[in-house]
Amino acid sequence: MQPAVGEMQLRVHSFARSPEQAAFHDMLAGGPLAPHVRFHFGIEPNGVSPILRELLSTRHSGAHLYACGPVPFMDEARRIAEGCTNLAGIHWEYFTLPAYVPEAGGVSDAFTVRLARAGRTFEVPADKSILQVLIENGVTMDWSCMEGVCGLCATRVLEGEPDHRDDVLSTEERQRDRLMTVCCSRARGGLLVLDL
Ligand code: FES
Repeated sequence: MQPAVGEMQLRVHSFARSPEQAAFHDMLAGGPLAPHVRFHFGIEPNGVSPILRELLSTRHSGAHLYACGPVPFMDEARRIAEGCTNLAGIHWEYFTLPAYVPEAGGVSDAFTVRLARAGRTFEVPADKSILQVLIENGVTMDWSCMEGVCGLCATRVLEGEPDHRDDVLSTEERQRDRLMTVCCSRARGGLLVLDL
């Protein structure tokens, strides 16, 4: 039986060249999370992938992965995690955002956003985000990063197809919960109807 934190089973894996270079090392090594933390120090670049593959493929079914780090590490973790069918959700926080590459069919064109509950409709030009347009028009909602990494602006889509450009929502949240981040994601068609 794995030790649990609250009702969750938690494992923290920290990769760094040395303890001095590991973020939050003292807190992780000496605090209440210490029994759940394993450090991986001084691993050669080509040694990281086998460790990640072993760690991710042996998680119990339904596990969620939360990963943060620099782009090369995250890209490798992402490549491996997306091939692991046991993971229920994967969540990313890049130290710096990777260059945006539109999904096939994605567009940056202007489109229309309708707020179903407020009964208001706005045009979103190609050079503004949905969130910018909403704020300019006095619509209040939670937001923070404006870059698709915090998840605060996640909003349910009632109609239309989002062009997801965030790095925070899981596949499950996008497909089952129909969520999109309005600070950076756009529309694949001419109209999005949001649950606002
Ligand atoms: S404001 Fe952070 S994801 Fe939209």
